[in-house]
Amino acid sequence: MDLERLKTPCALVDLDRLEANARGMAARAEALGVRLRPHVKTHKCVEIAERQVAPSFRGVTVSTLAEAHAFADGGFTDLTWAFPLPPDRADEALDLARRVDALHLTVDHEASVDALERACRRRGAPASVLLEVDCGDRRAGVDPSTDRALRLATRIADADALAFRGLLTHGGHAYGARNRDEIAPVAAAERDVVVRLATRLREAGIDVPEVSVGSTPTMRVVDRLDGVTEIRPGNYVLFDAFQAAIGSCALEEVAISILATVVGAYPEQRKVIVNAGAIALSTDPGPTHVAPDCGFGVVATADGRTLHDDLRVFALSQEHGQIRGDGVTDRFRIGDRLRVLPNHACVAAAQHDRLFAVRDDAVVETWRPVRGW
Ligand SMILES: Cc1ncc(COP(=O)(O)O)c(C=O)c1O
Repeated sequence: MDLERLKTPCALVDLDRLEANARGMAARAEALGVRLRPHVKTHKCVEIAERQVAPSFRGVTVSTLAEAHAFADGGFTDLTWAFPLPPDRADEALDLARRVDALHLTVDHEASVDALERACRRRGAPASVLLEVDCGDRRAGVDPSTDRALRLATRIADADALAFRGLLTHGGHAYGARNRDEIAPVAAAERDVVVRLATRLREAGIDVPEVSVGSTPTMRVVDRLDGVTEIRPGNYVLFDAFQAAIGSCALEEVAISILATVVGAYPEQRKVIVNAGAIALSTDPGPTHVAPDCGFGVVATADGRTLHDDLRVFALSQEHGQIRGDGVTDRFRIGDRLRVLPNHACVAAAQHDRLFAVRDDAVVETWRPVRGW
């Protein structure tokens, strides 16, 4: 199908770029000597994950149980739910675990461990458990420097119904970096913090089979991963304007864009408006710490080949996107189409019920991301 026939706004994925991004991270994982367990929350599409995993290991990371169900249905047999276990979903998770080779659950609190153990008793089923560790992101995870980390790991390892799988951390604070030089120490800390804790646990007699790290910026920059068993980047397969701003990728590697139509032109305000607003692009504020005026994405031509990065998507309302810049009304007329490379691929993609895979200006596949939780 021709691009012109698509209704706007809609989400496009450049298939050549996506496949190159997938190959690039797979090669990095191999060079670093770790397994790649891509985080599929970025796109929630089985067809994309197929391009990310190696035939030898069909493991993925999910952020919701809805993703876990859909990827199990899609033949992905080893799942990590890298999200603090909601006690009210523990039974459902244990039932799903019976359908796959492995479903690893994540906890960072005694109360979650208690709830999981009760669910195991109710279902008569065991659970594989990862302990989430805070490597500096300050979002979730136990503080690795405390005795609590050791106590929690011991508690899990000693529980009859639970199998202690190991440690999981996410260097999300890499998104606060301004360039690759600032990402590097975050990547080193992400690795060192869990590897040190794994050593402490092993010294205490606890088996730690898995040491799992990863965000896209840290995995693009890290130079060695000794002691780590697997990495979980996700965003890298699409990339976005934020990643480009912090030096994690080039704008030319960004595979996702939102196709929109110009619906208003206001030369006196140096402005056009398009039909991609907050719902189509998301209101992710973007890399304001690097580019305070970044707006809500980077503008490109309808074919995606030319960037207009001097233009700014400066305001969004539900369905309106406002784009300002010198000569914008000469460059784009009412009825013209343009693309916006979103600030945050994962949140933008999640706004759409279909992703259109594009190669050589034609839609070659249509994917339906998993919806709900
Ligand atoms: C626990 C966890 N692991 C891995 C990732 C993947 O990181 P990224 O989106 O930077 O690729 C995320 C993303 O938020 C995450 O929350």
